[in-house]
Amino acid sequence: MHFFDYRDDDFCCEGVTLDRVATEVGTPTYVYSRATLLRHLRVFHEAFGQRPHLVCFSTKANSNLAVLRTLREGGAGFDVVSGGELFRVLRAGADPRQVVFSGVGKRPEEIREALAAGILMLNVESHGELLEVERAAAALGTSARIALRVNPEVDARTHPYIATGLKQHKFGIPLADARAEYDFAATLPHLEVCGLDCHIGSQLTTVQPISDAVARVLELYRELRAASFDLRYLDVGGGLGIRYDTEQPPAPPAAVVAVMDRARDEGLTLICEPGRSIVGNAGVLLTRVLYVKRAAGKTFVVVDAAMNDLLRPAFYGAFHEIRPVQRRAAALIRADVVGPVCESGDFLARDRELAEPHPGDLLAVMSAGAYGFTMASNYNARPRAAEIMCAGEDFTVVRRRETYVDLVRGEE
Ligand code: LLP
Repeated sequence: MHFFDYRDDDFCCEGVTLDRVATEVGTPTYVYSRATLLRHLRVFHEAFGQRPHLVCFSTKANSNLAVLRTLREGGAGFDVVSGGELFRVLRAGADPRQVVFSGVGKRPEEIREALAAGILMLNVESHGELLEVERAAAALGTSARIALRVNPEVDARTHPYIATGLKQHKFGIPLADARAEYDFAATLPHLEVCGLDCHIGSQLTTVQPISDAVARVLELYRELRAASFDLRYLDVGGGLGIRYDTEQPPAPPAAVVAVMDRARDEGLTLICEPGRSIVGNAGVLLTRVLYVKRAAGKTFVVVDAAMNDLLRPAFYGAFHEIRPVQRRAAALIRADVVGPVCESGDFLARDRELAEPHPGDLLAVMSAGAYGFTMASNYNARPRAAEIMCAGEDFTVVRRRETYVDLVRGEE
């Protein structure tokens, strides 16, 4: 459920026509809907009901300060994977006690920053990292709350680049080694071992792998509890899919209920780390058609957004629906929608049927709120897009378009 739709024949985000956005802000521009963000977050909260829980929005999906602030106002905590993301969520006013820090390669200074901020816990992914966290906590004269991220070895059945829960992946501690690492962690004087964490992948379109992962991880939890570990947090990661095309992903409540069912009698605070399912369909990328080019029997719709703005089609072969901003009667054509970047992989859509556009027309690339702007780059010395947030009839520029001067800032 999102708040992007046609009003008469004008495509709108909430009460704002995208035509007006293009006139006032230019293109390409990421357009976010505040009401959609809050609604998606609320669905998670409501699914947990009275059960103690934390919805830690996965910052990597969209780290714009206005998005983070909106979600914080809606009661979200945050999952971060770098010192930079930690800086952003704190800037956005996050309560450090609602922040978890994941990732296989935390640098010593990032660990120190997390401890100094007093975050809820570090999700530790290796033996070496346990030692590093112990060292950092000892140096700061503090105690570090940690969970171990275990790899439950279940097949997430998703794109190979975004599956993380199989033996061959770099993520987490193998289930078989986890008990030994918990025992080791318990010997380290500056660690407070308080949680158990897993995450198996992204864009999951069935609940089963999540439910299987939780079942496996809970076996370990029961073994640890029997051995007197005082674990209070079960973090089940993120990964719930959204509808880009014809997928039928489960609604968040179905996944939350499956997790709660598995962990029914355990007095644990449940943590989840959704990214895409909160912000994916809360954002579109607005772009303008530059040329309609016919060559060798093919049609190319050349637009002013490119792979540097939205990498997902080029990188994963991902599908994003494309809608005309002004709906009118037009012949249907089959075309590649491509950007100006000098790479054949620079496309937003391939072999797509769409109403024939003309130069100057606006298009909305749907479902671009997650892993859109956060994966953007300056490739081909292209200034990064503006970002705006709509709320009702109004919108705010929440990141101004980069300028050429921004491109060379910091260079000698
Ligand atoms: N927690 C951890 C530890 C993660 O690694 C991730 C995503 C999440 C939570 C959030 O997952 P989500 O709910 O958004 O699926 N760039 C890719 C997605 C990479 C996901 C990486 N980890 C894409 O554009 O599809």
